[in-house]
Amino acid sequence: MDAMLAGARRVFTLDGARVVFARAIDRVRRRVTRLDLEAVRRWCAASAIDQAAWAAAIDPGLWAEASAFESDLRNRASRLLASAQGRYGGGGAVALLYFLVRLRRPHYVVETGVAAGWSTAAILAAMEQNGAGHLWSSDFPYFRHGGNTAEIGLLVPGELRPRWTLTTRGDQVNLPQILAEMPRVDFLHYDSDKSRAGRAWALALLRPKLIPGATIVFDDIQDNWHFRQIAGDRPLIFGENGKFVGLLDRGGRDTWK
Ligand SMILES: C[S@@+](CC[C@H](N)C(=O)[O-])C[C@H]1O[C@@H](n2cnc3c(N)ncnc32)[C@H](O)[C@@H]1O
Repeated sequence: MDAMLAGARRVFTLDGARVVFARAIDRVRRRVTRLDLEAVRRWCAASAIDQAAWAAAIDPGLWAEASAFESDLRNRASRLLASAQGRYGGGGAVALLYFLVRLRRPHYVVETGVAAGWSTAAILAAMEQNGAGHLWSSDFPYFRHGGNTAEIGLLVPGELRPRWTLTTRGDQVNLPQILAEMPRVDFLHYDSDKSRAGRAWALALLRPKLIPGATIVFDDIQDNWHFRQIAGDRPLIFGENGKFVGLLDRGGRDTWK
């Protein structure tokens, strides 16, 4: 009962209400445009390339390091998640994120959507290996976890936390606050509000601070046409288990719309 009430209070914050509303709109839109959603998935599947082959062609040693990191994290995570109170998803782009952060060596990184912290742990571990960088993450607790923030980022080990600033009041509150603290954004991983409106809003807000050629990773791009609209004519898409990750990374050239 207490958890339900806490969850209800969370929903009725401004950001919570906005996300619930955006999800409802997306659900209605999906029902009305079921065929459209199938078309998005077909486009993702047709555009997707093999992530391991792509990364190994750029730097085989770094891709081997990223793959080893992912195996190690998966071993550690199974123990930690088994004793967690919440049930968490995530974990889709661990090796890719580790690889990209090692390759591009960004100093100022923004991430939306933390949950258990698979992606957060990957970004921070790669930064530690680089010996440079700081990560600002935006999240709010899953509704089904009743407003509990204690487990956000539970996969992030204590020794990596000095490079990490976590904000938990929702993107609408967190991102303006985060951006005010950052001189620029070199790298963005977006994995929070999956609605088209949520993605577009965050990107518009971040855009003035994104450096030309910033590395931008969007998760779950199969949910709507947002990624295709911004990706230009050479999207980089990787797929796994029916889900897709979109990458804008042109080695320093700013070619996204
Ligand atoms: C798919 S999970 C993130 C998984 C994470 N990147 C990982 O690899 O483990 C999505 C997260 O985004 C959060 N979220 C959803 N809408 C949000 C919003 N508007 N602002 C901030 N966080 C949000 C959810 O509460 C959840 O924690």
